[in-house]
Amino acid sequence: MPRVNFPEEGMQASVPSGSDLQEIAQKHPHLPFKFGCRQGQCGVCALKVLEGMENLTQRSENELKTLQSKQLDLTHRLACQCALNGDVSLARCCVSNHRATEITE
Ligand code: FES
Repeated sequence: MPRVNFPEEGMQASVPSGSDLQEIAQKHPHLPFKFGCRQGQCGVCALKVLEGMENLTQRSENELKTLQSKQLDLTHRLACQCALNGDVSLARCCVSNHRATEITE
């Protein structure tokens, strides 16, 4: 089973292949996912993909527009808009109304 890893928080989980990240967040509430609209609009769920971008489903036009509006580059994904088929390492972001910054703790 693929692994979702948040190395900065030392948190991880094994999940079924094909799971979307909203399902994973629901089944593994210890993982530091955060959601707002759940429709690819607000950017609150943005994550930096440290490893395994190729293991996430493709971006939609809607996701691309939201990432651009938050000044996030293509190393980022919206957790509410993708599923995974292999291991990924992720880092949280902090999104304001206009832009996002990565959280470094
Ligand atoms: S929760 Fe709003 S864009 Fe993902």
